[in-house]
Amino acid sequence: MSEWTRKDLLGLEELSTEEIELILSTAASFKEISTRAVKKVPTLRGKTIVLFFFEPSTRTRSSFEIAAKRLSADTLNITTSSSAIQKGETLKDTFKNIEAMQVDCIILRHSSSGIGHTLSKCVTPSIINAGDGCHEHPTQGLLDMFTIKEKKGSLNNVKVSIIGDITHSRVARSNIWGLKKLGAQVTVCGPRTLLPRDIDKLGVKVTTSLPEALKSADVINVLRIQRERQEAGLFPSLREYAIRFGVTREKLERFARKDVLVMHPGPLNRGIEITPDVADGSYSLILDQVTNGIAVRMAVLYLTLQANADGEEE
Ligand code: CP
Repeated sequence: MSEWTRKDLLGLEELSTEEIELILSTAASFKEISTRAVKKVPTLRGKTIVLFFFEPSTRTRSSFEIAAKRLSADTLNITTSSSAIQKGETLKDTFKNIEAMQVDCIILRHSSSGIGHTLSKCVTPSIINAGDGCHEHPTQGLLDMFTIKEKKGSLNNVKVSIIGDITHSRVARSNIWGLKKLGAQVTVCGPRTLLPRDIDKLGVKVTTSLPEALKSADVINVLRIQRERQEAGLFPSLREYAIRFGVTREKLERFARKDVLVMHPGPLNRGIEITPDVADGSYSLILDQVTNGIAVRMAVLYLTLQANADGEEE
């Protein structure tokens, strides 16, 4: 088993297969803690974790905060509206000030792709990417993989179809990097205007046919359609998108395997990319994903903070 030596978790593109497997196996050992009457262990007692969210979030922010608290770390939330960035302070200056308060880890969500890589070079606390622009959302990719592995036993040769706005999706990118490294076969499906031109170079199959993407899949991962893309003219109307690419029970019964599993990172646009009977029905793993997010984020916090602490002692 590989050891974790990285200060940060910025994306799945740069991780080895062994590092991803280490996170998933560590998460499996942490999952049981959340089922105890007292859901807390002292593993990260004395550590301080800052949650810096410059974009809205329900799942990721609360999941990281719960994960940190279950490991007994202290947490602090900072949002755009409550920070001195409103007064013109740069993000680098903000991070240097947070660093001066001897925090151990900064969890960052920001609209700029790659911002974590830049800031990581400027400060010593671990930086964990909680979603950067259209680039990566590594813990979402990891919890999706954990959820598939839990149901299928392995990711090797599992067929996963990712459906929706692939071009603008950090979830799609993290899933593709991670799933491919663990041996899954990935298909991406969406309107031509929402599929990146060279996406096949990542080793995925590409289709604009939803029936084709459904037919081959053990698992389908449905992405949120971002309404702002409609204003940019990238697809004609939400109604037309729902007709062509919306995942409905009728389409699953007609085209998909009987035991197909359906995932969605949330938030859902019910009735557009997914119908309520699918989201809430027997195919759905959507709330399993949310539950597993806690264990995965506990694992990521534990591994990155241990690696950073080991470095300090040397
Ligand atoms: N899946 C996800 O990132 O959800 P939030 O935007 O609510 O964090």
